[in-house]
Amino acid sequence: MDIQTNYLKLADGNQMPQEGFGLYKVDGQKVMNQSIKAAYEAGYRLFDTAQLYGNEQEVGTAFKELGIPRDQIFVTTKVAEANQGYDQAIQSVKESLKKLQMDHVDLLLIHWPIERAFFETWRAFEDMKKAGLTRSIGVSNYQMIHLQYLVTKAHEMPVVDQIELHPLLTQKPLLKFNHNHQIITQAWSPLGRGAVLGKEVLKQIGAVHHKSTAQVILRWHLQNGVAFIPKSVHTARIQQNADIYDFTLSPAEMAQIDQLNNYQRTGREPELTYEYDHQY
Ligand code: A2P
Repeated sequence: MDIQTNYLKLADGNQMPQEGFGLYKVDGQKVMNQSIKAAYEAGYRLFDTAQLYGNEQEVGTAFKELGIPRDQIFVTTKVAEANQGYDQAIQSVKESLKKLQMDHVDLLLIHWPIERAFFETWRAFEDMKKAGLTRSIGVSNYQMIHLQYLVTKAHEMPVVDQIELHPLLTQKPLLKFNHNHQIITQAWSPLGRGAVLGKEVLKQIGAVHHKSTAQVILRWHLQNGVAFIPKSVHTARIQQNADIYDFTLSPAEMAQIDQLNNYQRTGREPELTYEYDHQY
């Protein structure tokens, strides 16, 4: 198995690479082209952007300029809080597709749950899937309570829940809930935005396997069965993060990494975003 052949099956029947490339804070056409080129050559096939990142145009241009065939890649984007609501969500996705220079994305996510427009936005997502603007629909930053609320009116449920997930925030109950409901959990900030890279226990485990701490963390995600989207703008790191398919963490090592959990978020608390109607 390697990064390029490693796909997960979604509940709607579609397939999604387990490991993808995060494009958060990848800015400027030159850096974008270099990063996407390095990632594609290293075998990454999933590329994850968002309206909020402000780089959809650059992402679309990079694929065009690099000559990457559309059918070789899996593209995710996310609808920002300001664009939630039935009509606004659809309009904003049409604009995203124009910027991305493609007629559909593979996965469309609601970026954060918000109280205003909670159900209307999801209804728009169901309709956009039917209309072919996206192959799959999902959510991001949804906690158990949001998913339980959504199911009271949804015609179909999200197939992916993309959440902040790393060794300092292991989210075991939510992972179990998602698994039990055929929702693939996808980790954003899988490396904890760098916060976890210096942990001694990870260095020790890495030394045993001749791998970096980043590789140990990504392997932990892989063995947990979740999807994950590391981000880097450096070619050597992009390659390193894809080179995790030739070693195995023991159950004891997996447990040692689990024990780093201290409920530490680098991003927003979803419950508060829900209340405030936007990231605060
Ligand atoms: P950079 O883009 O300068 O390489 P996350 O994916 O958890 O948000 O973390 C991404 C952060 O970790 C970025 O700041 C990225 O910086 C850095 N990073 C990504 N891969 C590695 C790696 N293999 N080793 C060290 N730092 C990394």
